[in-house]
Amino acid sequence: MAHKVSNLNGDFGVIIEGVSREDLCSSEFRQQAHQLWIKNGGLIGLRGIDLNKLTSNELMDWSAHFGDVDHDNFVAREDKKVDGLPILRIGNTRDESGKSNSNFSKVPALRNDNDMRYNPKTRRPVWHTDSTFRREPPIGSVFHCRKAPPSGGETLFADTRSSLKKLDPEHRKKLEELEAVCSLAHHDKKISLYSPGYPTLNEKERAANPPNRVPLVLHHPVSGEAAIYGLNSSTCAIVPKGEIISATDLDVWDLEGKEDDSVKILRDLLPFMTAPDFTVKWTWQEGDIVVWDNRCTMHAATGFDDKNYIREMWRLTLLQSNS
Ligand SMILES: [Fe+2]
Repeated sequence: MAHKVSNLNGDFGVIIEGVSREDLCSSEFRQQAHQLWIKNGGLIGLRGIDLNKLTSNELMDWSAHFGDVDHDNFVAREDKKVDGLPILRIGNTRDESGKSNSNFSKVPALRNDNDMRYNPKTRRPVWHTDSTFRREPPIGSVFHCRKAPPSGGETLFADTRSSLKKLDPEHRKKLEELEAVCSLAHHDKKISLYSPGYPTLNEKERAANPPNRVPLVLHHPVSGEAAIYGLNSSTCAIVPKGEIISATDLDVWDLEGKEDDSVKILRDLLPFMTAPDFTVKWTWQEGDIVVWDNRCTMHAATGFDDKNYIREMWRLTLLQSNS
C-alpha cells in the first residue's frame, strides 16, 4: 500500500499512514522513517490497519533501529512487563485474576486545546523531559497503542528546537551558560509529598545516586541542532556550568523535596515553549506507534475516563543511538 506522509505542525512531527507490519521489517522503510524522525524534530507517528496486531517482538525489532532498548528500567515493575520483555504496559488494564498489570497515573483530561499550554498556576500539564537524573538519560521512547478510549488520553509533544530558535539572542546566551542539577532523591521525595507512601531513597541509595547535571541547551548528536533541555521532576536547581553545589543545599532539595528558586528559569519558559506554534497533540488510534526523541522534545500525558474505558499502551525506552 502506498504511504501517505504528512507534517504535524510545520517542520515538527510527521505521520506516515498506510503502514503495515511487513513495512516495519523493511530496512528501506526503517531508514526512511529514521531520516524523517531526525528531520522533523524527533517526532514520528505510524498508522496502519494491521499495526494493532503487532507482536511484542516485532515492536522490539522496530524500536532497536532507533536506539538500544533499555532493559534495566523495571525496578518494582516486573509485573507490568509485556511478555517478559522490556516493554512497560501503561494504562488501566488488569490480568485474568483482576490484578492491575499496567502502570497508571491519574492526570486531568484536556477540556480543550487551550489546556495543552502549561499553566503556571496549576503546574499542568506536567511537561517534561524524561529521566534527566540518569547519567545516560534516554535518547527517546517508543509508544504503541493497543487499546484506546473513545476520547482523551492524548499525548502532547513540544518542539524545543523551535522554541530555542525563537528566543531572543540575549536570553539564549544566558541559557547556554547554565546547567540543570537533576537528582533522583529529589524526584522521589517530591512525588512522595503528593503521593503519600511513594518510596524515597535511603542514605545508601542516595549516595549511590548522586545528582546528574545536564546542559539547558543541548546540541543533538545526530542533527547538530540545539534545543532546550533538562526539565524533569528531578530538576532541583539551575546553576552556572560547573558551579559547586553545597551539601546543605542538596540536603534541602533531596530530603525535603524543595525545588531551588532557580528552577524558575526553566519553569517560566514553559508557557512560551508550549504555545500552539511549538506543540502537537497526538490522538491515539489502536495500532499507532510514535517514536519521540527526548533530546529535542518535551511531552506530557493527559487523562481519560478510566472508570468506563480501557487504555493500554506499550512503552519502550531507548538508550544511546545506534546511528
Ligand atoms: Fe515522560
